[in-house]
Amino acid sequence: MKTVVIPLDPAAPDKQALAEAARVLRGGGLVAFPTETVYGLGANALNAAAAASIFTAKGRPANNPLIVHLAEADQVHQVAADWPESAMRLAQRFWPGPLTLVLPKRDTVPDVVTAKGPTVAVRVPAHPVAQALLRAAALPIAAPSANRSTELSPTRAEHVLRSLDGRIDMLLDAGPTSGGIESTVLDLTTTPPRLLRPGPIRSAELEAVIGSLVHDRFRTVAAQHHSQPLPSPGMMPRHYAPRTPLEGVEAGKELERLACLVRKKCRVGWVAFADPGERIVPSEVRLRVLPSDPASYAAQLYAVLHELDAAGLDRILVTLPPDTDDWLAVRDRLCRAAHS
Ligand code: TXA
Ligand code: MG
Repeated sequence: MKTVVIPLDPAAPDKQALAEAARVLRGGGLVAFPTETVYGLGANALNAAAAASIFTAKGRPANNPLIVHLAEADQVHQVAADWPESAMRLAQRFWPGPLTLVLPKRDTVPDVVTAKGPTVAVRVPAHPVAQALLRAAALPIAAPSANRSTELSPTRAEHVLRSLDGRIDMLLDAGPTSGGIESTVLDLTTTPPRLLRPGPIRSAELEAVIGSLVHDRFRTVAAQHHSQPLPSPGMMPRHYAPRTPLEGVEAGKELERLACLVRKKCRVGWVAFADPGERIVPSEVRLRVLPSDPASYAAQLYAVLHELDAAGLDRILVTLPPDTDDWLAVRDRLCRAAHS
């Protein structure tokens, strides 16, 4: 299949292009599109065959459920059987935005979307192209990140193409996404609510709206347990990973580790946290410096990892940011990327 790439101005997306993408979705096809977090791979969430083709294109295990995207909170009843007070308050505060809520599902949602589970994950994205596409298609759109399973999520159209060119019908290219890491996933079907995937919206922000929640830090579920839907595939140990082996190092220990790798003739990339300043970095090392505030760091992380991954290195070394709540989502992604 030929993947049609359509460049779009996010500030004023072309109506005809959106109508074409909506037509593809309504016909059961696959359209990759930008959200404020990462690019998503969309299909009609109410069409089992269309949703199944997402799994084929990505090579995604069938026990890994999809997030259903809606244009607005009022449409939740199309896919969810219950809309608790806590969901309403969270939606008022954080939608449209990078928060995914897990709710009891309605029978209208095909099993393939929820991996046969009784719940459905929903989110209302804020990106203007995602919004315009949802409105043009007038459908709930199931969309995981637009990458092959276990690989890095895409924050630019070129990342989507590197992974899925020829496997999807269309790609809407509206430039780099602003958020950079995947949405926060919160399960509201348990008491207290459970944070399944840390993300751009921090647990303290959620707790300020609905009270305390639980989070099993970095809990992992063995990927081979395919008999049940995973509580959250974000819990698979290896996820969001570049092909090049990635290693996390605590700040202060990097130069020693770099010297050791360079001595072994390893070609190394180093993702430093804040400016390494006057310290002397071996000239063989490809250095990339990420900002020291969590939001800007997250916005650039995947693009830097994609770039280093394409550079034919033996190893990517990443300085781990501080072990604090602000950095939880970033550290979570780095720990998973480092798992090989
Ligand atoms: O930011 C995002 O969430 C992006 C954009 C495209 O919206 N999407 C994304 O989808 O990251 P994906 O498939 O790569 O990750 C989906 C996450 C998984 O970690 C999975 O645990 C969770 O959503 N999920 C989906 N349905 C679920 C359900 N019914 N119960 C629990 N977790 C669910
Ligand atoms: Mg993903």
